[in-house]
Amino acid sequence: MARIGKVAWRSPSNIALVKYWGKKEVQLPLNPSISMTLTQCYTETAIEYTPRDDLKHPTFNLLFQGEKNVFFENKISSFIDVIAKEFSVLNSLHLDINTTNSFPHSAGIASSASSLSSLALCLLYINNKIMGVNMSEADFLRKASFMARLGSGSACRSVFGSFVLWGETVEIANSSDEYAISLTSQVDEKFNSYYDAILIVSSGEKSISSSQGHKLMDFNPYKDNRANVGKSNAINLINALKNGDEKMFRDIVEFEAANLHAMFLTSNPSFILIKPETLQIINKLKQFRDDTNLEFSFTLDAGPNIHLLYSEDIRHKMLSFIKTELIELCENGKWIDDKIGIGPILIDSQ
Ligand code: PMV
Repeated sequence: MARIGKVAWRSPSNIALVKYWGKKEVQLPLNPSISMTLTQCYTETAIEYTPRDDLKHPTFNLLFQGEKNVFFENKISSFIDVIAKEFSVLNSLHLDINTTNSFPHSAGIASSASSLSSLALCLLYINNKIMGVNMSEADFLRKASFMARLGSGSACRSVFGSFVLWGETVEIANSSDEYAISLTSQVDEKFNSYYDAILIVSSGEKSISSSQGHKLMDFNPYKDNRANVGKSNAINLINALKNGDEKMFRDIVEFEAANLHAMFLTSNPSFILIKPETLQIINKLKQFRDDTNLEFSFTLDAGPNIHLLYSEDIRHKMLSFIKTELIELCENGKWIDDKIGIGPILIDSQ
């Protein structure tokens, strides 16, 4: 049967500054999280869709970086089944999905945020086109964020650019546990030029998946404390962003990275994702800060790689420090020169 349409979205990855770790109910966060959307690390997902007669469930073929990939096929299959419960039109379609990451799979960068957000954007677009649904851009993005969350929590933040909040937060209008919202209008100019140097310490597979890790929080003795600390850090970080307060930003961001990894260490079974080079880089950065008084910060995701965050005005000095002191601690000298981004873009629709 002839294809009836095609859509493609590019959606970026994001780095959490206040971390989401631990869930309640259906993919709802224990505490609000705040992220910065990136530019260079993104996923492009293209879907060609064709009508089918058997209306029981959607069918699809998946090519990941141009090849079949059973691991992603299973992940995407469960996600599409969840989405098809709401968008029954998907049950009458066959989807040819082609998805590629701008960063290598082995870069140690989590791809679930960019890949599931790009997929959610495509599926919502297809539903709206076939059903003739007209949504404002704001409603479209909110719905896409809601859908992306069902695939991966962090993915709901990738639907927006700049700084993004996911989770109900006192005094932040429209904040919700069900979808993310943009903080763009609340951010001081200072943070709009932020860079993220991603220092790849190891590109190996993680010893534990994030869904296994989230589950371990249910029994972590520090669970309630973590949720409360995450809540107050979200409120304080929003204030730091508003006031252009880089010192406060740094205190919160570096505490959050330590607190996340402390949760890993105190889970049962406990797990360690940092490597010796992670600590060496952190020590070098602290020393460099003491020596220069430059205002920058670092964070870690669920892995050993360092995200080094700094503003445009100190870029020259940071690049030279990265090149002379830090690259030698990166795996094969690998690092990604990323920066704050504008969020997803529609790259094709036919
Ligand atoms: O979205 P998930 O289920 O892969 O969890 C992401 C968890 C962290 O990356 C560690 C933190 C975050 O908020 O992105």
